[in-house]
Amino acid sequence: MVIPIEWKEQDGVFHLYNQRVSYLIQIVHGKYLAHLYWGKRVHTIQPNSILSFKGRAFSPMTESKDPSFSLDTLPQEYPAFGNGDFRSPAYQIKTNDGTTITGFNYDSHEIFQGKPQLKGLPAAYVEEDHEAETLVITMVDSKLGIGLHLYYTIYRELDVIARSASFEHLGSNEVEIHKCMSMSVDFHHSDWDWLHLHGTWARERYIERKPLIHGKQSISSARGASSHQHNPFFALLSENATEEYGETYGVSLVYSGNFQASIEVDSFETTRLSIGINPFHFSWLLKPGETFQTPEALMVYSADGLGGMSRTFHRLLRTRLCRGMYRDKTRPILFNNWEATRFDFTENKLKDLAVIAANLGIELFVLDDGWFGHRNNAKSSLGDWVADRKKLPQGLNGLAEYIQSKGMKFGLWVEPEMVSPDSDLYRKHPDWCLHVPGRGRTLSRNQLVLDLSREDVCNWLIDTFTKVFNSASISYVKWDMNRNMTEAASAKLPPERQKETAHRYMLGIYRVLETLMKRFPKILFESCSGGGGRFDPGMLYYMPQTWTSDDTDAVERVKIQYGTSMVYPAITMGAHVSDVPNHQVGRITPLQMRCHVAMAANLGFEMNLARLNKKEKMIIKREIGFYRQIMDLVCFGDLYRLLDPFKGTDSAIMYAASDQTRAVVFYYKTLAMPNPPFLRLKLRGLNSLAKYQINNDERLYLGDELMKIGLTIPLVKSDFFSKVYLIQQMVD
Ligand code: DGJ
Repeated sequence: MVIPIEWKEQDGVFHLYNQRVSYLIQIVHGKYLAHLYWGKRVHTIQPNSILSFKGRAFSPMTESKDPSFSLDTLPQEYPAFGNGDFRSPAYQIKTNDGTTITGFNYDSHEIFQGKPQLKGLPAAYVEEDHEAETLVITMVDSKLGIGLHLYYTIYRELDVIARSASFEHLGSNEVEIHKCMSMSVDFHHSDWDWLHLHGTWARERYIERKPLIHGKQSISSARGASSHQHNPFFALLSENATEEYGETYGVSLVYSGNFQASIEVDSFETTRLSIGINPFHFSWLLKPGETFQTPEALMVYSADGLGGMSRTFHRLLRTRLCRGMYRDKTRPILFNNWEATRFDFTENKLKDLAVIAANLGIELFVLDDGWFGHRNNAKSSLGDWVADRKKLPQGLNGLAEYIQSKGMKFGLWVEPEMVSPDSDLYRKHPDWCLHVPGRGRTLSRNQLVLDLSREDVCNWLIDTFTKVFNSASISYVKWDMNRNMTEAASAKLPPERQKETAHRYMLGIYRVLETLMKRFPKILFESCSGGGGRFDPGMLYYMPQTWTSDDTDAVERVKIQYGTSMVYPAITMGAHVSDVPNHQVGRITPLQMRCHVAMAANLGFEMNLARLNKKEKMIIKREIGFYRQIMDLVCFGDLYRLLDPFKGTDSAIMYAASDQTRAVVFYYKTLAMPNPPFLRLKLRGLNSLAKYQINNDERLYLGDELMKIGLTIPLVKSDFFSKVYLIQQMVD
């Protein structure tokens, strides 16, 4: 068995490796932590010949006895600022003399099997200790009496290194942490493209790929949530890397709040990357005896392009980040009433929809916003989590029982983190929201954000939602969050801790979610933030699926789901068939295409079922039946992206079972082209020598043929055309 972490004492080198990946760290001059290498597995190494040294003008001489040595040019693991390295530091600490100069030197290390969990924070895990090995390097600043622990875990079967850092204060004077990234790595060259996912509400996770430029480039969020605008992820790709070939390094942060991911190319063409809590508007007062833990960064190496990177992220997030009884299960096909009724419903209207849903084969009925307080629009009642008896005379339980009598499960929408100024909660506790006394409270969607940095507010949330979830037989919860933070300050924190508010909020929400998830292990939680405004690994640790976007237009969704798939597996994405003209873009697409797009993830329906005609009902029944045949492939198969919707009007993806016996291919054409060329899709993930049948046709295809020559797509004169191919191995 491969021993994943080796310590070569005579060279001062740590080698973390599995069958495919190596990561090398060297202690230089007995105290500095140099980054030697991260990439394809190396077997024999001459560590002392990896680093090159040369004294350079204006690069400070860090060691007086060694003029060639400067921190300014040393590739490092967790660099400081102010001691000679002028690039972006991984951390910055203000000490009690007002300066930010620190000197953390190597002190000791520990190597052990398994992976420690991070206190109060979401993180990837192992089920058995032998799945991974962990190295903890401790650096000490003896003047401050602070220990810096750098955590590195390498998985045996996944090409993943998980990193984080913690500062442990064993000294006597309090300090302020101003910056503490979760990881930092220096590459010795800059021939990279970088790729990240950007967007806005209803247009999340569009892909952008650009060559690196000299200087800094970064993405970040200062919204108090990971955000629609930038996902906490980026990748570096060798310039010629494609979907299936070339070196790709993906970095993803297990965090749902303000983050920064930055890349800096210096004048010697080295590239420094880092990700962590956004240092903008952040500081943390660390008192003697306390420890500060950063969130975890997940670092994936792929020699097989972006596709290889995504498949590793998918396996990791699906099996070693998501938790709970739904982790390894296909998800129920749901109906959600939001786009059908918005706030305008009665119990009878919901019951009518439920009858139709049940007849169509839907398994879960979700009641969305508008069921509590006097919430007839988005202007009131968040905080008053009691069913509105005018709309629901039998309460939640009465409706839930009715839904169950129709053979479906019952699900509920909630938005716990918010408060409406027009609510009993706000009238009673006006100081429970984020605010600055004496200043305005900026509304967004007419609501304010509860101050989850406060323990009492979090406890109230836990108690309140324990009651709500116990008040009816609830099998599913959609946990929404519909605005970002402003006036991010807390009435409970002293002045010197105000810049801790946003991170303390995250620790608070994570505690609330952990408690509720443990209390209600049978509830399937889906997170949401106006669609995909908090689609991140942090949320997935508590809630194994996320509402991908409020945009359910089939054409747009192809792109959104494609971009999302860079990091997140299909089993984590909610995808619904909605009405036309589409509520967000006004486009009219055929029902079949809407079904085909939604069934490439967790299929649901969010439309006025009462308006469906016979033919439409027949299509939905048929597609639900088909989805049942392929849902295991969608949820657990390996994803191959075949044609990029950002590059043209045709796109395709496929999911293949890891035993290569079955696969499903989704092909979408958004706009027809006059007199188009023939299109062949070269499939992936099949057994070259096996024979496959496609959609029960008589003709058999060799895997080799489908992967090398390709699957011929019919020429169709139509916009919004889609086709799904179920590919099954035939046994002779
Ligand atoms: C935003 C969500 O993304 C929608 O799906 C819906 O639940 C609304 N909130 C309800 O207010």
